[in-house]
Amino acid sequence: MRSLLFAANWKMHVGPAAARAYIDQFLAGYQAQPGRRVWFFPPATTLHTVSQLITGRADLAAGAQNVHWEPKGAFTGEISVPLAVEAGARAALIGHSERRHVFGETDAETGLKVRAVLAGGLVPVLCVGEKLEQREAGETLAVVQRQLAGALEGLEAEALRKVIIAYEPVWAIGTGKNATPRDAAQVHADIRGWLTQRGATSPVILYGGSVNLKNIAELVAERELDGVLVGGASLEAATWLQLVSTPVS
Ligand code: PGA
Repeated sequence: MRSLLFAANWKMHVGPAAARAYIDQFLAGYQAQPGRRVWFFPPATTLHTVSQLITGRADLAAGAQNVHWEPKGAFTGEISVPLAVEAGARAALIGHSERRHVFGETDAETGLKVRAVLAGGLVPVLCVGEKLEQREAGETLAVVQRQLAGALEGLEAEALRKVIIAYEPVWAIGTGKNATPRDAAQVHADIRGWLTQRGATSPVILYGGSVNLKNIAELVAERELDGVLVGGASLEAATWLQLVSTPVS
């Protein structure tokens, strides 16, 4: 049976009160389905609320959108892995394109974060993806491989097996332009090869970038996709309910 992971990246949206209403509506409308996981990445201020509301549902989890690599200290504005764990996180996004391109996060920092997240017992969801000019210059695979190497090179196979990758072409994020299933599949196959060469077994590779109700069926029909990471179309419970209920053959 095909396993799929649907991950909602709420970015800087949905406070605790709105999350309560959202998750109530979601839980009322969504029963666990075999092979299907649904994860939520709320803002840090909403993480605890979400994790509390979904307690007891093994198919659901909450995660942090970003973490610092140090476990504690004088890092105003940051949250550590242990703080995220205490708030109920089971996963953390690392190297989202907005972290890389708006906040200047480097490949080396993603490497520190992956190690901290693994050490803290969370699942790292490493985001990679090329910019439009890089795609047009034929550099997509080189960029993605550089990002994979920056974050993951040197990890033991056992650690590598725990890492989830989200391939999110920067030109597709929040633009309404999604990669075609074939475009995504080519990059996913390359990422899968990179990981398996280093000892990962059946890696989980998500696609992200303008996933919505119109394109979800076509995207998840592509077997290279093990799921999706969704921003805009995850912000309303009714839309997200429909999206995560998409049938696959
Ligand atoms: P989008 O965002 O679905 O709004 O394009 C995806 C993401 O940034 O993870």
